Amino acid sequence: MKILITGGLGFIGSNLLNNLVKKKTVQKIIIIDNFSKSDLSNLNKDIKFKYYASSKSYGQSRSRIDIIRADTNDWKLAIKLTKGIDYVVHLAAESGVDISIKKPQEAFDINVKSTFNYIEASRINKVKRFLFASSCAVFGDIKPPHHENLPRKPISPYGSSKLSIETFCETYNNVFKLNTTILRFSNVYGNFSKHKESVVSKFIKNIINNKSVVINGDGKITRDYIHVDDICNAIYKCLKLKKSLQVYHVATGKETSLNVLVSDLKKLFLKYNKKDISIKYTKERVGDMKKNYSIVSKIEKEANWKSKVSLQKGLEKTIKWYLN
Ligand SMILES: NC(=O)c1ccc[n+]([C@@H]2O[C@H](COP(=O)([O-])OP(=O)(O)OC[C@H]3O[C@@H](n4cnc5c(N)ncnc54)[C@H](O)[C@@H]3O)[C@@H](O)[C@H]2O)c1
Repeated sequence: MKILITGGLGFIGSNLLNNLVKKKTVQKIIIIDNFSKSDLSNLNKDIKFKYYASSKSYGQSRSRIDIIRADTNDWKLAIKLTKGIDYVVHLAAESGVDISIKKPQEAFDINVKSTFNYIEASRINKVKRFLFASSCAVFGDIKPPHHENLPRKPISPYGSSKLSIETFCETYNNVFKLNTTILRFSNVYGNFSKHKESVVSKFIKNIINNKSVVINGDGKITRDYIHVDDICNAIYKCLKLKKSLQVYHVATGKETSLNVLVSDLKKLFLKYNKKDISIKYTKERVGDMKKNYSIVSKIEKEANWKSKVSLQKGLEKTIKWYLN
């Protein structure tokens, strides 16, 4: 398998690389990342790769892993990189809902315009599958549980950008017979997430830095937290499926409130002698959904995938990584 990962040095991408290098079926991995949110420090030390500081210096290489510092907005590069590739895993994005509201043009340029380069280049170069990292943000304020058959009504530019590419995945499949996969991830947490502003990452960083854990609202808000190892396994499984258009929710199917999350973190940090963790409750954030989780029976049945990492184990692993 020859795999191209866009945004491959980010949180999910670097975990995916660490996962894929262990697979004998994977002959070649090419990563393109513009280093806007990440850099080479997101890689396991034992990974050997050839690094290209710009797209200009990139040529055919015999190395198993190539890492190119470049932007997905470069159409010619998209064509060059997808040549001879079996699978494209498209992760590069501006992934903040808040940022997309502050800078909608930026979210559009990265999440729609540049993403289009890679779906169109995948069509031209006849890649076997284009896998797109989507999100439940395509649903907006709809009452959970989320599942594949709900109507999509985004309420942020981020959600709209994801919906836009979901529809390109659908039409490219219908019209051009490009195999496409849309995976809607729930709240992902785990190693290599230091740059993320998601709650698990924020809470762990605050606890380690002796700062208060700030909860917006009364702490009863629920989310479906999934460990990044489970996400990587789902991506790998879905690449190999036969069905030409796949849409799956990748989540645990379990709801966890912020209060329970913090209480679990408090217990786990006791091991590291962190006893006096202060928790502050502030005003609810406008637009925050009260409950959020997904039904995962479709991916479980069709891809024979199941989330395996419990929240306890996943948090324990993540804390260890942050402390190291
Ligand atoms: N983390 C989550 O909880 C979550 C949930 C749902 C969906 N997703 C989606 O999964 C994907 C990966 O998310 P993540 O958490 O790893 O995000 P991330 O920000 O850690 O990773 C994105 C990577 O893309 C790179 N990048 C951004 N713009 C680029 C561009 N124009 N050209 C090249 N590289 C670029 C960044 O440098 C970064 O390394 C995103 O598409 C995101 O929307 C993530």
